[in-house]
Amino acid sequence: MDKYALIGYPLSHSFSPQIHNLAFKELGIAGNYEILQIEPDSFDLKILQLKSSPYKGFNITVPYKKNIIPFLDAIDPLAEKVNAVNTIKKDNGKWVGFNTDLFGFLKPIKERLATLKSILVIGAGGAANAVCFALMESTPVEFLTILNRTQKNADILKSILVAELNKNMVIKTGNLTDKIAGKFDLIINTTSAGMGNLKTVIPYDFSDNFTKNTVVYDLIYNPKKTLFLKMAHECNLFFLNGLEMLIAQAQKSFEIWTGKEFPDNFLDKDIFYKND
Ligand code: ATR
Repeated sequence: MDKYALIGYPLSHSFSPQIHNLAFKELGIAGNYEILQIEPDSFDLKILQLKSSPYKGFNITVPYKKNIIPFLDAIDPLAEKVNAVNTIKKDNGKWVGFNTDLFGFLKPIKERLATLKSILVIGAGGAANAVCFALMESTPVEFLTILNRTQKNADILKSILVAELNKNMVIKTGNLTDKIAGKFDLIINTTSAGMGNLKTVIPYDFSDNFTKNTVVYDLIYNPKKTLFLKMAHECNLFFLNGLEMLIAQAQKSFEIWTGKEFPDNFLDKDIFYKND
């Protein structure tokens, strides 16, 4: 039995074991994917122990996507560029780090990428960093606005992006309480505002910032429709949550680990929302 696991903290509501274990079953692979919740205090020790374990691969999630990097033996150039690793493959006993979040994020909006010139990113943490890099590489973006609860973090993200920038692009930053001018082709929530005990929070009121063609993307997948997405629905906009991204990043990780193509569309997405 090939063993894989998700490392993060806290991990109580992850859909990843279901996704990977169903894919193993679908392809007849003797594999098992489990959850390894590691508390921050014991992270270094547990990771060192895992280095000599029989696991063939891991997913790494919040809050360890950066902390894991010093423990790797090699890192894929894309993961190195975004400075975040969400997938490890054990290759000849060595740990190699990858980032499949960027692929996952882009896949559900693949057909629309060529139309995205003005983009509003809400949040400035690790997820926002990955999203901005992915968009800078794959869209004709000319105007990028980053709004964050703590504007200083948006400014830091801006300086990281500017250092990598190889095209003409205006990057603005602001606070979530700012009422910014301008209409956006894509508005993305990368913050946790809208889930868990922040379920009743709308991270940013975009009512002055959309046209009929604006796409609204919330990286949160639980609940299925955050208040942010309800607002998009009420405005008759195309919107999507983070489930497609979650499945697509899992697909890429699975393919890195097994070398086998992840079956397309075999998952019944409603299984994730039985209680909604
Ligand atoms: P991740 O890697 O998932 O992006 P993170 O790096 O901790 O996690 O970033 C979390 C993001 O959500 C940040 O932009 C954070 O804002 P701050 O920079 O001000 O911390 C944002 N965030 C967290 N809680 C929030 C809240 N209650 N309202 C608005 N934004 C919030």
